[in-house]
Amino acid sequence: MSTVYLNGEYIPKDRATISVDDRGFLLSDGIYEVTPAYRGRLFRMERHMRRLQHGLDALRIEYDPAGLPDMHARLITENSLASEDVAIVYMQITRGVAPRIHHFPPDGTAPTVYAFAQAFHRPESARWKRGYEAITVPDRRWDRVDIKSIGLLPNVLAQQAAVDAGVEDALFVNDGIALEGSHNNVFAVLDGVVTTHPTTHQILHGVAREYVIDLAQAEGIPVEERPVLLEEMRGADEIFFTGTTTEVRPTVRLDGEPVGNGKVGPVAKALYEAFIAGTQVEASAA
Ligand code: PDD
Repeated sequence: MSTVYLNGEYIPKDRATISVDDRGFLLSDGIYEVTPAYRGRLFRMERHMRRLQHGLDALRIEYDPAGLPDMHARLITENSLASEDVAIVYMQITRGVAPRIHHFPPDGTAPTVYAFAQAFHRPESARWKRGYEAITVPDRRWDRVDIKSIGLLPNVLAQQAAVDAGVEDALFVNDGIALEGSHNNVFAVLDGVVTTHPTTHQILHGVAREYVIDLAQAEGIPVEERPVLLEEMRGADEIFFTGTTTEVRPTVRLDGEPVGNGKVGPVAKALYEAFIAGTQVEASAA
């Protein structure tokens, strides 16, 4: 039985219960984060906390996040995950419990904070080397997806469309622009330049995205942050998705058509290797 965190308590998961009046349940009125830990060390926690604060501010949820890094660390140890190569902590904060109304509940309504930790298993290297497939889906989300809202219905439907098509990823397209995946960011390699949408309100500002940009720059690979047309994606040498639970995932077929030569490309491979190596350095840092 795993130990979860709920409103200040560390308890067995089967004892964690939430009110049916919780605004997360009734209204999707909340935000979340998913933070990785490599061999027990939380990775780029300050970036996750900054993004969380951005969401809290945008939604005007009053909550002091100062204790959250320690809470994350404790969940890793309480669940004996410190020796896992990769574990993740999922955390969500809702506007709390109150009779259902659309506007904010009375001042003093305490946010609900829930978190759990679990191991994350990287794909076998032979599987990764075969590459993955993606489909495109229309982006029917709201225009503040920079807020990591728990309202994920379009993402759920997009990912189900991918599963129904027998592929791994769904790529949101809006006005001919390829934005990001259902739960990850997307990059194209265009004439040797690693290209990805800028951090606007139309994508989530992924922590793995930023990490991969840092890695590319460190490897001397040119990077450009600009909107990428779907047509450019279709002609790209390489496409790959990035995310906490995606790491670097190369797409070798998009909507059934081969990407580049239809094989995992050298840039995705180099960045994936750098990604894994970087997390190992992190894990072994004193
Ligand atoms: N998803 N874009 C979307 C829509 C996402 O949901 C995510 C993360 C990302 C990548 O962000 P990061 O690199 O910080 O993980 C981009 C998480 C993992 C999830 O929903 O489970």
